[in-house]
Amino acid sequence: MLLQHLSLREFRNFAAGDLDFGARFTVLHGPNGVGKTNILEALYLVATLRSFRSADLGPLVRHGAAEARVEVSGHDRQLGLGTRLAVHLTRTARQTRRLAVADGKTVRSGPDFYGRLRAILFTPEDLGVLRGSPTGRRQFLDRALFARDRAHIADIADYDKLLRSRNRVLRGEDAGIARGQQDTLLDAYDAGLAAAGARIWVRRERLLADLRGAFAEAFAQIHGRHLGVTLEYVTRLAGEPGAESADPQTRLAEALRGARRHDLMRGTTTVGPHRDDFDVRLDGQDAGAFASQGQARALILAFKIAELQDARARAGEAPVLLLDDVSSELDPQRSAQLFEALLREAGQCVLTTTAPHFIGLPAGGDCRYIEVDKGHIKLGGDSGP
Ligand SMILES: Nc1ncnc2c1ncn2[C@@H]1O[C@H](COP(=O)(O)OP(=O)(O)O)[C@@H](O)[C@H]1O
Ligand SMILES: [Mg+2]
Repeated sequence: MLLQHLSLREFRNFAAGDLDFGARFTVLHGPNGVGKTNILEALYLVATLRSFRSADLGPLVRHGAAEARVEVSGHDRQLGLGTRLAVHLTRTARQTRRLAVADGKTVRSGPDFYGRLRAILFTPEDLGVLRGSPTGRRQFLDRALFARDRAHIADIADYDKLLRSRNRVLRGEDAGIARGQQDTLLDAYDAGLAAAGARIWVRRERLLADLRGAFAEAFAQIHGRHLGVTLEYVTRLAGEPGAESADPQTRLAEALRGARRHDLMRGTTTVGPHRDDFDVRLDGQDAGAFASQGQARALILAFKIAELQDARARAGEAPVLLLDDVSSELDPQRSAQLFEALLREAGQCVLTTTAPHFIGLPAGGDCRYIEVDKGHIKLGGDSGP
């Protein structure tokens, strides 16, 4: 989908905001705290019905307002038609409800809505992912998969919900559950977790397998020196005895059953894709622990470039790239490499920066500069910052 227009109502710090996108690049610029990342968050919400900054959608509604609305209009190149996608958020004391609307019709099922706008996100936090927590790395992989496979979003949501329920039962937090019922409930949760968990696990493994070659190539180009790089999914399940014989769902179901007594003592679920990780090695050494900061960032940059190539090859059309203030975290040489790769790989790209002159994009109609000022979007021009 080609983005044309975005309209925000009561979203984050915008009472009302409207902007038109450039055919290729849209540069949102302005000082810190004015709402640039909020605009990317709005686009990400339309792509995935999720936020990349909070698990709960409540904070996306403007303080003091009860309802927020994000609307995107664009051109569906596959259908050759104009299309409008909207997400409404309604905040009540207990929860925040979301409603997805496509071309004026409510879309009840998430998977029917995801993927109409496909977006790849790249934030400064991503650059630190190799040195950060396994949770951050799992999110990093899952976000790549959200753009690749719309079923992944629903599986992650289902899995998280089942996991919270299972953990509540393990901790005996659900009052009114008799002892005999506990096992029946856990059986039901285990079956659901094994099914969704196996799909999550298999997709993550496949993603890494598909990106491996392009990742190594992109890294060699950025780094300029040949170093062996490997990219591996890490799961406790891989090493279980007899692991090769059974399919992933059976293996996960067996592992959950086998861990149940232990999990009851710990009060938490100790096996499953929520405990998995991925491992990048540089000349055989764990990059998280041994790579220099520059190398670790180059590895992530290479991963994102591989992700873009893969996305374009699979869909026949590049997804929209949302690039949040990344150049401020990179040295000039890596920043230049990134933008070179973007020019080659990206379709439409929406990027934020405090300093538009650092971004060496070509002048002309392909690029639109839009100034953001505390909760206001100023009318953009094509001429440059
Ligand atoms: N729900 C909300 N209501 C009103 N303002 C909000 C809300 N959520 C965040 N903000 C404001 O948004 C601003 C941050 O926006 P952000 O997009 O992160 O800025 P930038 O990326 O330009 O540095 C802060 O001033 C914050 O107070
Ligand atoms: Mg920001």
